[in-house]
Amino acid sequence: MRARKKKNCDARLERCSDYIIDKIVVPPENDKPVFLEIGCGKGRFAVETAEKESCLFFAVEIMKDIIVMAIEKGAKRGLDNIKYKIGSADDILEFCPENCVDTLFLNFCDPWPKKRNAKRRLTYRAYLEKYKKILKKDGIIAFKTDNYPLFTFSVEEFKESGFEIYDYTENLHESGIYNVAMTEYEERFSQMGQPIYHLKARMKN
Ligand SMILES: C[S@@+](CC[C@H](N)C(=O)[O-])C[C@H]1O[C@@H](n2cnc3c(N)ncnc32)[C@H](O)[C@@H]1O
Repeated sequence: MRARKKKNCDARLERCSDYIIDKIVVPPENDKPVFLEIGCGKGRFAVETAEKESCLFFAVEIMKDIIVMAIEKGAKRGLDNIKYKIGSADDILEFCPENCVDTLFLNFCDPWPKKRNAKRRLTYRAYLEKYKKILKKDGIIAFKTDNYPLFTFSVEEFKESGFEIYDYTENLHESGIYNVAMTEYEERFSQMGQPIYHLKARMKN
């Protein structure tokens, strides 16, 4: 996602500093599922999911000029079950404990269409190895995209990395599979008539 430099971005982040974390910490008394979204963009999915579900939601985004909008959305609604991390999936093991996440959401991640950039796709096997570490034993990855080449690439990466795939569909909105919330990209592409590809992946026992 291209982001124009936001005016007063640092001041805006400062005003919402209660929502921003350095590291993901799950309080020992927590009894709710832990949700993590990587590449949350402007935050619609994260905020609506945190509102609807009894969960602890952590939203990660690399671009501070983009996440500032996501953080302001959460803060405006006064949500107490969502926190935001400005950071990259590359460093996930530095700011997220192992064996901690129930559901990891990857929504409309950048497709990086050129083959030489395949390693940058957030479903590339090196990322999946990192995600395995932060997922709980029965934790899952929920993935959706408008991009069919990225989708088919990801299916192979999940399989190669020892995941089994379920809730696979090439048209999420007509599938009957529960879609807790739409993302900004999802709304835009589905309004253009584009089907949304979706799958869930869990480690084979
Ligand atoms: C195509 S946008 C989709 C945004 C949002 N998920 C949606 O569906 O509307 C992809 C987002 O992932 C972020 N991103 C890209 N690489 C990332 C990384 N390595 N770690 C965290 N976020 C990343 C981008 O900055 C961008 O906001």
